[in-house]
Amino acid sequence: MYQPRIGDELAVLDTPSLLVDLDLMEHNIALLQERLHRSHVQLRPHLKTAKCPEIAQILLAAGAIGGCVSKVSEAEVMAQAGIEDLLITSEVVGQPKINRLVQLVEQHPQIKVVVDSLDGAAALDQAFQLVQKPLDILIEIDVGQHRCGIEPGEVAVSFAQQLRQFRCLRLRGIQGYQGHVQLIADSDERERMCRQSMRALTSTVRLLREAGFPLEIVTTGGTGTVELCASYPEVTEVQPGSFLFIDAHYRRVLGPVYTPALTVVSTILSRPAPYRAIIDAGLKSLSIESGMAEPKDRDGLYYQPFGDEHGLLEWTQEVAARGMEQVLKVGDRLELIPSHCDTTINLFDTYYAHRKGKIEAIWSIAARGKVQ
Ligand SMILES: Cc1ncc(COP(=O)(O)O)c(C=O)c1O
Repeated sequence: MYQPRIGDELAVLDTPSLLVDLDLMEHNIALLQERLHRSHVQLRPHLKTAKCPEIAQILLAAGAIGGCVSKVSEAEVMAQAGIEDLLITSEVVGQPKINRLVQLVEQHPQIKVVVDSLDGAAALDQAFQLVQKPLDILIEIDVGQHRCGIEPGEVAVSFAQQLRQFRCLRLRGIQGYQGHVQLIADSDERERMCRQSMRALTSTVRLLREAGFPLEIVTTGGTGTVELCASYPEVTEVQPGSFLFIDAHYRRVLGPVYTPALTVVSTILSRPAPYRAIIDAGLKSLSIESGMAEPKDRDGLYYQPFGDEHGLLEWTQEVAARGMEQVLKVGDRLELIPSHCDTTINLFDTYYAHRKGKIEAIWSIAARGKVQ
């Protein structure tokens, strides 16, 4: 089998393959930095989106202070690649995972985790006492998403006070992520909801500081809220992930702020009927929990998966009249913008990063499938 090489044209790639347009990804990074430029906050991008140490290094080179990951197994991949300042943004619970964390933190002491229960904190403390090592922790509070996190306000203060009993746990900060707000399509409503979540976060930060907890890290924000979050003086870091690639769902919500930089290139396998084509990208190549992928630069063409391995493209008679019928021949290729980048990336082994159609880098998606 031919192994694609740097300098090859995209046409050498087998399909479906995952492509990154480097000009567009760099544009998105620069845009976010420009938007954060006037604020005091630092960028700790969420690496669960890209799952790739090389991309993490690009973000660090662009000024990120470190990264977030969701899982211990993702942290292992990033730490092994030399990314030391990591925050694990999901609670680490269960002895197998805690054992893994202990091993990892012994090698990489800058790794931090969130906690939201005394039981969870006690288990972590017990494990770190055995090796006599400290663990940096952040309290996660629920700012309205109702996923994990303890109640903001006095409950959080009382929780922080109780954490003092744990000898190995060092309270470094607080996380309040408003995941329920990111993709609200109405921008006024998104702002209103974000401000509500930020009131919960910032008032808790003030209470905790008054109670004697310095909280050097206050982290929040995703791609849909990052700028507003960064405008609050209490916030020290933001943790967006999707800004890098911008999927079709985010593009629908945010409009043309960032530009989609990630696509799946696919081949037309069959033209069974007028106004229909079958491509080689189905459920195993494009996730659909955030809606359908969108054919890139092909107005009037609609995609839906047709089982695991196939996808259906349809178009209307009017579009056909514009010449689409002739364009979409068996063997032709087209690119699709995933509706949700995180879950689509997790389906692939490799990124083919290109500039104007010429492959510039080939990166392993090393944290792909790392869900533990
Ligand atoms: C805790 C946490 N922080 C940050 C993010 C990044 O959000 P986005 O990809 O919308 O920028 C996520 C995404 O789910 C998350 O769960």
